[in-house]
Amino acid sequence: MDNKEILVINGGKPLEGEVCISGAKNSALPILAACVLGTEEIILDAVPKLKDVEIMIDVLRHLGSKVEYIDEETVRIDSSNINTCETPFELMDKMRASFVVMGPLLSRFKKAYTKAPGGCNIGARPIDLHLKGFQALGAESMVNDDEISITTNGELFGNEIYLDFPSVGATQNIMMAATLAKGETTIENAAKEPEIVDLASFLSKMGAKIKGAGTSTIVIEGVEKLTGARHTIIPDRIEAASYMIAAVMTKGDVTIKNVIGSHIRPIIAKLIEMGASVEEYEDEDIIRVSTNHRLKPTNVQTLPYPGFPTDAQAQFMALMTVCDGESRIQETVFENRFMHVEQLNKMGAAIATSGNRATVVGVDRLHGASVKATDLRAGAALVMAGLTAKGETRVSDIYHIDRGYSDLEGKFRKLGADIKRVKVK
Ligand code: UD1
Repeated sequence: MDNKEILVINGGKPLEGEVCISGAKNSALPILAACVLGTEEIILDAVPKLKDVEIMIDVLRHLGSKVEYIDEETVRIDSSNINTCETPFELMDKMRASFVVMGPLLSRFKKAYTKAPGGCNIGARPIDLHLKGFQALGAESMVNDDEISITTNGELFGNEIYLDFPSVGATQNIMMAATLAKGETTIENAAKEPEIVDLASFLSKMGAKIKGAGTSTIVIEGVEKLTGARHTIIPDRIEAASYMIAAVMTKGDVTIKNVIGSHIRPIIAKLIEMGASVEEYEDEDIIRVSTNHRLKPTNVQTLPYPGFPTDAQAQFMALMTVCDGESRIQETVFENRFMHVEQLNKMGAAIATSGNRATVVGVDRLHGASVKATDLRAGAALVMAGLTAKGETRVSDIYHIDRGYSDLEGKFRKLGADIKRVKVK
């Protein structure tokens, strides 16, 4: 983690040109974890260059998988010689999404552990739905301050599992745990995100039997073993959404390449409702977004897919700060996901919050300020605010941005933005 770098942005230039979207972080992470299940060589294409991906590769290497880059974004993984079922807590702690390796470990080896050195509290993490699913398959889980252990009597058995909430991570973990279980597993109220479908399609290439991914009922019929496969990660819908939003915030004209329109319906619908021009070229996976005027305000409620994605909430709020009137946001997926509000207000935004609701009154123009990326999407939102603001914006703690945006400043620079990464003492 390098928190000694900042992004310095001189705002005011409309973004113009083309940007190519990378593979989806939220697909790459569970798919890399799923490689634990394969006894033969796996090749993944369009693996995005991200800190979070590096952490997941560290997890695999720690477990005993061989991982090597054979091209810029192509990775070869051989998990035939995994020699431990314990993921060190340092890696779990660096990235919550590492927990998605527990399902594959449990499925293949019928046990999975993570341990904390020095007793950090890991019990408080919201993983209840993951554990409930594992238990339904016949595993026992023990969670205390410094250890999570999931064990079985040597078998997992298919079962019916209803999720109280369509958790993305829990759906992925249970789906993977069930691939090598005896009999049939049904997950009801499953998450329907495109990343679930991508994972299911990868697992199917490895020999898993999965039906219904992308609907709220997923049925997995356990098989004896999973083998190798080659798979291309789907484009990152949140990265695409971010560039679309940045385009209209700067009154620009941007062509987004490698984007699947059906994955970002709520973003497209909202931008059109607000007065932006959005042209889709579905055959070519291209979307062109532009406006030459301020957009109208709107209301947004975040929801599980296919609703409006919580991962685009901060960026949409940044857009609302420069719309022509009052917008509202209700965040229903995560508590406490308004940390960017204080930072945006430092730049002259007029945002008020009450619980999980925010009211955003559009201002004529934001002004540059020194602000802090409090998390990944908040960081992107602040950069985007900086691109439209008057004067210089300095965004610190950008290691959050590096977790999930591949070459953010390079891509913005190519669109004409004045943005640079600077080392500070
Ligand atoms: C994934 C995405 C993340 C996105 C989120 C929601 C990855 C790596 N991350 O995260 O970018 O913001 O989906 O679209 O894919 N919950 C529980 N108990 C559980 C599990 C979750 O209460 O056992 C709660 C969470 O606290 C949260 C909500 O469910 O409030 C949604 O979480 P979930 O869908 O699991 O998100 P992640 O898989 O962590």
